[in-house]
Amino acid sequence: MMILFTLCLCLWLEALVSTARGLDFRYHNTVEVEQYLKAINKNYSSLTHLHSIGKSVEGRDLWVLILGKYPTEHKIGIPEFKYVGNMHGNEVVGRVLLLHLIEFLTQGYLSDPLVTRILNSTRIHILPSMNPDGFEASTRDCMYSEGRFNKHGVDLNRNFPDAFEKDEEEKREAEVRAVMDWLSSEPFVLSANLHGGAVVASYPYDNSNGGGELQRGSSVSPDNDVFVHLAKTYSLNHTHMHKGNNCYESKDFKEGITNGFYWYPLSGGMQDYNYVWGQCLEITLELSCCKYPSESELPGLWAVNKPALLAYMQQVHLGVKGQVLDSAGAPVQNALVEVEGRRNLCPFRTDRNGEYYRLLLPGNYTVKVTAPGQEPVMKTLSVPYGPDSFSALMHNFVLQRSSSSSTSISSSSIPDVTHPTESCTSMVRNPAGSHSANLLGPGLMPSLALTLCRLLL
Ligand SMILES: *[C@@H]1O[C@H](CO)[C@@H](O)[C@H](O)[C@H]1NC(C)=O
Ligand SMILES: *[C@@H]1O[C@H](CO)[C@@H](O)[C@H](O)[C@H]1NC(C)=O
Ligand SMILES: *[C@@H]1O[C@H](CO)[C@@H](O)[C@H](O)[C@H]1NC(C)=O
Ligand SMILES: *[C@@H]1O[C@H](CO)[C@@H](O)[C@H](O)[C@H]1NC(C)=O
Ligand SMILES: [Zn+2]
Repeated sequence: MMILFTLCLCLWLEALVSTARGLDFRYHNTVEVEQYLKAINKNYSSLTHLHSIGKSVEGRDLWVLILGKYPTEHKIGIPEFKYVGNMHGNEVVGRVLLLHLIEFLTQGYLSDPLVTRILNSTRIHILPSMNPDGFEASTRDCMYSEGRFNKHGVDLNRNFPDAFEKDEEEKREAEVRAVMDWLSSEPFVLSANLHGGAVVASYPYDNSNGGGELQRGSSVSPDNDVFVHLAKTYSLNHTHMHKGNNCYESKDFKEGITNGFYWYPLSGGMQDYNYVWGQCLEITLELSCCKYPSESELPGLWAVNKPALLAYMQQVHLGVKGQVLDSAGAPVQNALVEVEGRRNLCPFRTDRNGEYYRLLLPGNYTVKVTAPGQEPVMKTLSVPYGPDSFSALMHNFVLQRSSSSSTSISSSSIPDVTHPTESCTSMVRNPAGSHSANLLGPGLMPSLALTLCRLLL
């Protein structure tokens, strides 16, 4: 009798533990990841949305799981965030962490207060593997593996358009095209790209052509203060990244962060592309010295990264956001929203809803909004620390039709500034469903002229 009871108790406990255990800490292959994402999407159908943003060279889907209170579509005022893992197929820790993050977020919704607030205020896109072909080709090696590259032997983190060096468009790989299209289909605000082989948070720029951006060995962007804050948010909330010097014979990274170019220059990187053309601030997270660690290390890696992954997402609420409207209250697409003192290579523009998002540290900023045929508007805003309240400062701009036919050109036309290698208007947000013909409407010519003016100055 006693034995039977004990047996029952044990079986019950075993069942309890195994459901609580959930996703196991091991490397899931492409088919298993797909099954997992589909199961999550089925079990949490109102909190998640699953779609493929394209296919790899070998035809594997690039699955993205979207999480949030409104997972199926963008809502005005709710910022879009993304995490991208496994771009280098043999750097596998990010891929594992993102699956566990998905589990943690879905299970924590409406029970964990932080998770609930994040998911109620943010739309989160997770691409666990950008290079599934590379993953399948990888050997479990700490440093070297063919799986770094895609099926064509191309390093995807060297294959994006580069702001500082011209290249040929035909070179673009399928995985890179898919990410570029994805970036233009959603108004992403903040992102991180998860790698391995070091332990550090690296931020733009990764490249330079020796212009004004090059400062004491670093390639410094106009939003450097924000990038340093973002990188530190990750490294300080990570158990030991901020201590620097985590890997044998590696550079000593002060506070666990580095400017990308200062570490080593590279062209065609994804983070610079996100920032320059996508208006999406992206950093690169190197999460383990060994690129393909043994499975026994995975629970520990999740534990040290989990608070950092959450804190980083919350930073999507920095700064100021809102809509640009005309005097009739209609959204103005493609209006320039410029922050004084920040000369972005491509100025930030409003999207199809007339929305803008601008990540800024707390302080006072003068924001200038310009649109063809409208009087420019300038406003000084006092920006608080948004992440604490899970919302950036909200500020809408209302424009009045300009009386004179000449629209004044942006005042911030200071010469001696580097220009991107491709036109800024080539990456106007062109969401699925909206006709690209819209972009060729009357609004385009003045903005093109503006871009040309800048190029000539
Ligand atoms: C989905 O729900 C089923 C039934 O409750 C459960 O067995 C399964 O483990 C769940 N899967 C995931 C990934 O949540
Ligand atoms: C989040 O949204 C849900 C669904 O609308 C609501 O029930 C819940 O109270 C909200 N929680 C927080 C913390 O905002
Ligand atoms: C986490 O990041 C935030 C934002 O940068 C910072 O204020 C906070 O101190 C960090 N937490 C820890 C434990 O360092
Ligand atoms: C911003 O401006 C307000 C007045 O509008 C002032 O009280 C405050 O000190 C300023 N903050 C900073 C950081 O300059
Ligand atoms: Zn990498």
